[in-house]
Amino acid sequence: INAAVFASGSGSNFEAIMEFDDLICDIVVLVCDNPGAPVLEKAERYGVPSVVFNAKEYSSKANYETLLVRELREHGVEWIFLAGYMRIVGNTLLSTYENRIVNIHPSLLPSFPGKDAIGQAYQAGVDETGVTVHFIDEGIDTGPIISQEPVQVNPEDTKQTLKERIQQVEHRLYPVTINQLLRNS
Ligand code: GRF
Repeated sequence: INAAVFASGSGSNFEAIMEFDDLICDIVVLVCDNPGAPVLEKAERYGVPSVVFNAKEYSSKANYETLLVRELREHGVEWIFLAGYMRIVGNTLLSTYENRIVNIHPSLLPSFPGKDAIGQAYQAGVDETGVTVHFIDEGIDTGPIISQEPVQVNPEDTKQTLKERIQQVEHRLYPVTINQLLRNS
């Protein structure tokens, strides 16, 4: 099974997926919308080819997504795993990869969708937040949930310590969920 990871930033989830033993798909390409993203060096280290694009150079989302679909097809990609991809996925990708685009989000959805979910939870003073892996649809962090794991917020937590614990959970949960999903499909 060939899969792509889409990421815009540091790529710690990409790394966790690559480091996971027994992943039952091959990550054959990394798609990145940020030419300066540290995830690109990580992809190089793992020998994963990357497709980098600058959304500003295209007049519409449909334009760059059409090119992406072409690249993904050339790599035989069947599944897409978003890992810190900071763009809303449009109809072109959604209709081509229906029910085959998965995202990881650092909260217990439906709580705290959108940007800076960890900061939102921290500010709200909740005593529990967590991690969600879900299918994506046309909304922002609204698609059907595949797996979730709670993370307690401790009174002594700073936003940074909370973030570190959430990311540890992400790095464990995402590859395991990918395997379960692929086994059941
Ligand atoms: C993760 O917290 C993920 O849940 C969110 O973006 C972050 C990406 O971090 N969607 P990284 O680039 O994988 O380190």
